[in-house]
Amino acid sequence: MFETLKKATLDKIFVLMAEYAADPRTGKIDLGVGVYKDDKNITPVMRAVRKAEQRILDSATTKTYKGVVGNKEFSSAIVDLALGNTIDKTRIRTVNGAGGTGALMILMHVLGRARPKGRIFISDPTWPNHIPLAENANLEVHYYPYFDAATRGVNFAGMMEVIDGLTADDIVLLHGCCHNPTGANLSRTQWDAVAASLQRTGAFPLIDLAYLGFGDGLEEDAYGLRKVVAAVPEAMVAFSASKNFGLYRERAGVAIAIARDSESADVVSSQMQNVIRGTISQTPDHGAEIVRVILEDKDLRAEWEAELTEMRERMGRLRVKLSAAIRQKSNSKDFDFIAEHSGMFSLLGLPGEVVQKLKTEDAVYMINDSRINVAGIPENRVDELADKLLAAVR
Ligand code: LMR
Repeated sequence: MFETLKKATLDKIFVLMAEYAADPRTGKIDLGVGVYKDDKNITPVMRAVRKAEQRILDSATTKTYKGVVGNKEFSSAIVDLALGNTIDKTRIRTVNGAGGTGALMILMHVLGRARPKGRIFISDPTWPNHIPLAENANLEVHYYPYFDAATRGVNFAGMMEVIDGLTADDIVLLHGCCHNPTGANLSRTQWDAVAASLQRTGAFPLIDLAYLGFGDGLEEDAYGLRKVVAAVPEAMVAFSASKNFGLYRERAGVAIAIARDSESADVVSSQMQNVIRGTISQTPDHGAEIVRVILEDKDLRAEWEAELTEMRERMGRLRVKLSAAIRQKSNSKDFDFIAEHSGMFSLLGLPGEVVQKLKTEDAVYMINDSRINVAGIPENRVDELADKLLAAVR
């Protein structure tokens, strides 16, 4: 049986994680995989999560199945968090996903059924997993330009040239906020233009919302997606609780479908449930229940929001510190964009050899496209990191 198989290519993010773990050097710096790290360089269990978990442990009476749509109260709290009051709830249906990726999997499979071999337009560059997710769902991957390598900002003119030319049969995948891998994000005016374009062409938006609250704030980060979903009759949103609740391995996410009306929403819901049953049958609940407990309790929610703010502000501070150190040492503004980007990542725009050299000679790990996770910048070694980056690009 197995002799017919070829070795599959593993995702570069996970390959790098394994290389980093296997590197025996002390003082190695991990700017690779997108997990938040605190000032002790660990990915903490958030305080509100710990408390919610304890409550669940103390009060749970069963672990029986929840049903194929999963934890409805969790989904409904997430719809409120992400969409606010933008959409009439009778048009919305949700199912839990196994993480944000699980939510994307469900939504893309439904889209692949609605438009077999349909075109999905993905930002170039994007999170690498978007591509196999779309291909596995029978969608045909196309790209829209996104990153301006010269300014390290958004190539908005290039992006809109493609977006404006889409048809009502096309799907466009948008990063709701905190673009991964670039860290370059659309301004409000640019989101307005994207929403108007989709309204005009009828192209279908699928929004990946994996970093809500990591950019400028929970409400601020939701601006673009709310604008888009309010402008169009149908849309989908894949929400991940991995980063903003620090629940990575618990796989908590929500697949949100917004339909024209309640009748059509029921049809989409049945398709989402059918995908879940035929793939993983039921979704995990532990992480979902933790989020539900936090969002439904005033105090826990306030504690979570405060910690999320600390995390966001820490990432912002690290951005400013690193770009300031580089500017001061090199007397150039070449890396100022790090402080202008937002979210967890910045794409440095370094050639592959430089990325390789930083890894082998300096034990500084970043994804081979030169994406850094800013939360991995060691605050007490910013100068050293700036020196290493500058020496590598010279
Ligand atoms: C990342 O982009 O590094 C994270 O989203 C982790 C992952 O699953 O790839």
